[in-house]
Amino acid sequence: MSGATTLPGNERGQVARTVRGRSLSLVTGPTPGLASLDGMETWDAIRARRNVRSYDDRSIAPEHLDRILEAGRRAPSASNRQKWDFVLVTLPDQLQELSTVWVGASHVATAKAAIVLVLPEPESERYRTIDQYDLGQATMVMMLAATDLGIGSGHSAIGDQEACRRILDTPADHLCAYMIALGYPADDP
Ligand SMILES: Cc1cc2nc3c(=O)[nH]c(=O)nc-3n(C[C@H](O)[C@H](O)[C@H](O)COP(=O)(O)O)c2cc1C
Repeated sequence: MSGATTLPGNERGQVARTVRGRSLSLVTGPTPGLASLDGMETWDAIRARRNVRSYDDRSIAPEHLDRILEAGRRAPSASNRQKWDFVLVTLPDQLQELSTVWVGASHVATAKAAIVLVLPEPESERYRTIDQYDLGQATMVMMLAATDLGIGSGHSAIGDQEACRRILDTPADHLCAYMIALGYPADDP
């Protein structure tokens, strides 16, 4: 994953891997995949991810926000529909406003950014569940990409659709489905 550095291997194909300066165990052999369960940075990110709702003062570099969004864009979707918009919000006033659209959204106010996942009204009922499924997958990969960069992320549902549409200037036939708040963790949940 992105934070990983692969050091030169020896003649037996051993490589030492580090994630953000932390050494992982040696991965033996040139064959990627299941040769060793110890060296998978993906597994580290899966284990490290928690809902982070408390953030420190550091802002998030634009290229890191791009990386997180790119992870979402690469998520699979039914028939490759990609029927989603990922709306990035970084303005403190807008983040503050978004924190009021749901009772469980207060952490968005102090986040450094939020990604609002927006869905158009589906063309048939069948797609309502499918599109939500696709958003779930996109959410998870974005959260893992954030974790990989040392950035905390926290879900929030959205209750007040009218308010969310007003804040984001979203068309009336679009659903503000979920938010992902982002920031460097101020605690260790
Ligand atoms: C669909 C969904 C909606 C969620 N909505 C909220 C929310 O509105 N506010 C919040 O603080 N956490 C929300 N969460 C986060 C869950 O509370 C959290 O994932 C769960 O408690 C497990 O904790 P963990 O993510 O740290 O492992 C939501 C999670 C999911 C999957």
